[in-house]
Amino acid sequence: MQQGFTLWLTGLPCSGKTVIADLVATELKKRGLKVERLDGDIVRKSLTKDLGFSKEDRYKNIERVTFVAKLLTRNGVIVIASFVSPYNEVREMSRREIGNFVLVYVKCSLEECIKRDSKGMYKKAIAGEISNFTGISDPFEEPINPEIIVETDKESPNESKNNVIRKLEKLGYLE
Ligand SMILES: Nc1ncnc2c1ncn2[C@@H]1O[C@H](COP(=O)(O)OP(=O)(O)O)[C@@H](O)[C@H]1O
Ligand SMILES: [Mg+2]
Repeated sequence: MQQGFTLWLTGLPCSGKTVIADLVATELKKRGLKVERLDGDIVRKSLTKDLGFSKEDRYKNIERVTFVAKLLTRNGVIVIASFVSPYNEVREMSRREIGNFVLVYVKCSLEECIKRDSKGMYKKAIAGEISNFTGISDPFEEPINPEIIVETDKESPNESKNNVIRKLEKLGYLE
């Protein structure tokens, strides 16, 4: 059986989590591996649609995702999870629970994220139309010990994807 692990991408809104996670998932599927994606935007419309963005609700959101990721990981699936997940304490809870856990810090300056603003959320947050928005009116704690850092304001999505794959090979999670 293939070795299961969870690749967890954390970063500011618009840093590039979804784009990189999808590119890595496609690459691993091409290699014939079993892959499942968990993405914040999708999960928040289904499994955790009752939750908001308070610190407590953010914890619950990640707690439920972690529960699912743990089940898949222990059954040999590669889980690629992309969530803002702004708190070190919460990410470390996921790491402890899941075990085979690789943290990717999708690093991008706030200025560049605001420039991208693909969904117009920063604009609304800056105008005060939405509250608890990470980077503007809610904290983002930089990961202390990520296995992988990709700098999306300095490299292309494809380069970031290749850097993740290369690091997974080096760590022994991929052949
Ligand atoms: N190296 C990179 N990796 C990922 N995205 C990048 C990169 N460089 C530029 N981008 C752009 O940044 C945006 C990231 O959007 P998205 O992946 O939806 O962010 P997030 O899921 O973190 O909110 C996309 O429009 C993408 O084309
Ligand atoms: Mg996203």
